[in-house]
Parts: sequence; structure tokens; C-alpha cells
Amino acid sequence: MPSHVVAATAEFPPGTRRLIKVDGRAIVVFNVKGEYFALLNKCPHNGGSLAAGVVTGLLQSTIPGDYAYSRVGEIIRCPWHGWEFDIKTGRSFCNVIKARARAFPVHVEPGQSIVEGPYRAETIPVRVEDDYVVVDA
Ligand code: FES
Repeated sequence: MPSHVVAATAEFPPGTRRLIKVDGRAIVVFNVKGEYFALLNKCPHNGGSLAAGVVTGLLQSTIPGDYAYSRVGEIIRCPWHGWEFDIKTGRSFCNVIKARARAFPVHVEPGQSIVEGPYRAETIPVRVEDDYVVVDA
């Protein structure tokens, strides 16, 4: 599976996202509190752009009137019909059995490794002294 350079870590701060094209596929990469995760930018419900969604948290309730809000910044809500997905896994919270946003492995590589290859970074200047976010897709 080819590895694609997304951005330098210094230019990709927590709470932000990047939309990239990989071999004709749109992939959205998120920085969640310093960790990076990638999902296919196509909601499994009807194809909405997850990159255009709202990042939120997980609201859960075990009994009426009692709820807990957790995992702030780790859930993406599709802008079309509001289905929510775990950014870290692609798991759906609206159709747990059938729907999952496709996830891709993401890792951080030093610039020296990028220069030595084999990575694809056609549009990103690479410096050996920087670290880079890389998605395998
Ligand atoms: S297309 Fe995403 S919730 Fe419907």
C-alpha cells in the first residue's frame, strides 16, 4: 500500500483536518489531540463529505434525563443527515451493524525517511529536519 505525505506536523495542529486526493479518492486526515487519523471522505450512508462535517463528542445516556458527554473532538458528524462516526476507527454510532467509514493507517515519519522514500509527496516540499504526517492508502 503506497504511503502519501499529507503535511508537516508543524503545519497540521490539533483540532484541524486536511483533505487530500490519493489515486482519485478523497481522504480526510484529522489531528485529534496530537494523534492523526484518516477516513475516506465519503459517508457510508449516502456519500456526504466527512471533511465538511462538524467535529463533536460522544453523547450517551443509560436512562432518560441522565447523560454523559465524552470523547470531545473525536467524533465527526456528517453534514448531510447527521450520522456520527468515530474519527479513530470509522465506526458509526447511528448504524453500528452496517455502516463504517473506511479508515486508513496514518503515521508520522521524519523528513529524512521521506527523502529516502518510497513515499509520494508530489506537492509538498520536504525538509529533512521536519516530521511529516503520512497516510497509507
Ligand atoms: S450522507 Fe452522511 S449521514 Fe447521510
